[in-house]
Amino acid sequence: MSATAESCAPTPAIVLGGTGYVAGELLRLIAGHPRLVVAAVLSDSQPGSSVAEAFPHLRSTYPDLNFSGADEVQELIRRTPVSALFSAAPHGVSAALVDRLLIAAAAAGARVHCVDISADFRYSSQAAYEAVYRHPHGAPARITEFTCAVPEHLKKSPTPHVAHPGCFATATLLASVPLLALGLTDTRLYVTGITGSTGSGRKPVDGTHHPLRHGDLYTYGALEHRHVPEIAACAKQATGIEADFNFVPHSGPFARGIHVTVQASLKNSLSKAQALEALKSFYADCPFVRVAAAAPRVKDVAASNYSSLSAATNGNSIAVMSVLDNLNKGAAGGALQWMNRLLGLAETTGLTAPASGWT
Ligand SMILES: NC(=O)c1ccc[n+]([C@@H]2O[C@H](COP(=O)([O-])OP(=O)(O)OC[C@H]3O[C@@H](n4cnc5c(N)ncnc54)[C@H](OP(=O)(O)O)[C@@H]3O)[C@@H](O)[C@H]2O)c1
Repeated sequence: MSATAESCAPTPAIVLGGTGYVAGELLRLIAGHPRLVVAAVLSDSQPGSSVAEAFPHLRSTYPDLNFSGADEVQELIRRTPVSALFSAAPHGVSAALVDRLLIAAAAAGARVHCVDISADFRYSSQAAYEAVYRHPHGAPARITEFTCAVPEHLKKSPTPHVAHPGCFATATLLASVPLLALGLTDTRLYVTGITGSTGSGRKPVDGTHHPLRHGDLYTYGALEHRHVPEIAACAKQATGIEADFNFVPHSGPFARGIHVTVQASLKNSLSKAQALEALKSFYADCPFVRVAAAAPRVKDVAASNYSSLSAATNGNSIAVMSVLDNLNKGAAGGALQWMNRLLGLAETTGLTAPASGWT
C-alpha cells in the first residue's frame, strides 16, 4: 500500500461497553464518520451475538457484525498499528479493561488513542476518585495518561488519552465556565439540571425506568450528586477558580437530552444583550456551541453534537440556560470530537449532522 493510500485509510475503531446506550450511539456516529471504521465492539455479556439484534436501528449499517469477546479484542488491538479506542463501559469496570488493552498494544508496538466516557479517568488522583466512587481504581498508574475536559475549554490534550467529563458536567460547564473565566459572577453557582431517561443506561431499575418517570418530574441526589467534584475540578482546570457548585439534578420525562440552568450573582450589573454578547464571544471559535436570545430547547439539539445556550439577567443575577443531547454531545459525540483531535482531524469530522427536531 502506498503512503498516501495508507494515510487515507480509515482508522479502526474499537468500542467497549458493547450493548450499552452510549456504545450504540458511538456505532451510529462512527457509521457516518469518513475516517473511522468499526473494527470491534466488545460485549462482556453477549460475545458472538449480533450487534443488529442489540441495536435494530443500526441493522442497515452493521447487518453482519457480531460482538467480540475480550481476548478477540486484545488480539485485534495487538495487530492494528493505530487504533481509536472508545470506552463506554461502566465506571469501576472501564479502567481495568482499557489498561489491559493498552498493555497488549504497547507489547506489540501498536499505537492506541483512547477516549474513556466513564468516570474512571476523570480524576487527577486515585484518592480523589476512590473518595467519591468508594471502590479501588482499576488502573491507578494510568491516571496521568488522561486529561478530563470539555473540548470547548481545552484546545489540545496534554496527555495521550482523554476522559470525557460526562453529560451533566458538559452542560453545566458550558454555561458556568464563561461566567467564571470572564469574572462576571461570584463563585457560588446554583445549578438545576434535568436529564432524559437514556442518561441512566440500558438496564431498567426503579427510579430510572421510563414508565415510572414518564409524565413525572422529580429530583435525585440534590446537593450531593457525585458528579459535583468532577464539575468543580473541570471548572478549576478551565478557569483557575475554585467554584462552589450547588447542583440539583432531576429525572425528566423524555428519553434524550439535558436541560441545565446555572444561576449566580453578578459582580456588576449586566443586560441580557451584554450577557449574550459575552457568551457569544467566549464561544466564537467553537463550532458546536450556539448562543441565542431565545430560550434553548432540548429538541433543538437532540441526537446532535450541538449545544445551545441562552441567558437572562435582572440586574443582580444571571441565569444561563444550556441544552445538549446526553448520549451525543454529553457522551459519544463529545468523545468523537476529542478523538478527531487526537487523530489530527478537524474536530467537526463526522459530527455536523443537525438535530432531528422531533424525538
Ligand atoms: N447514558 C448517558 O447519557 C451517559 C452520558 C455520559 C457518560 N455516560 C457513561 O458512559 C458509560 C456507558 O453508559 P450507558 O448509558 O451506555 O450504560 P449502559 O446502557 O448501562 O451500558 C453499559 C454497558 O457496559 C457493559 N458492562 C456492564 N457491566 C460490565 C462489566 N462488569 N464488565 C464489562 N462490561 C460491562 C454492558 O455491555 P456488555 O455486557 O455488552 O459489555 C452494558 O450494556 C458509563 O460509564 C456512563 O457513566 C453515560
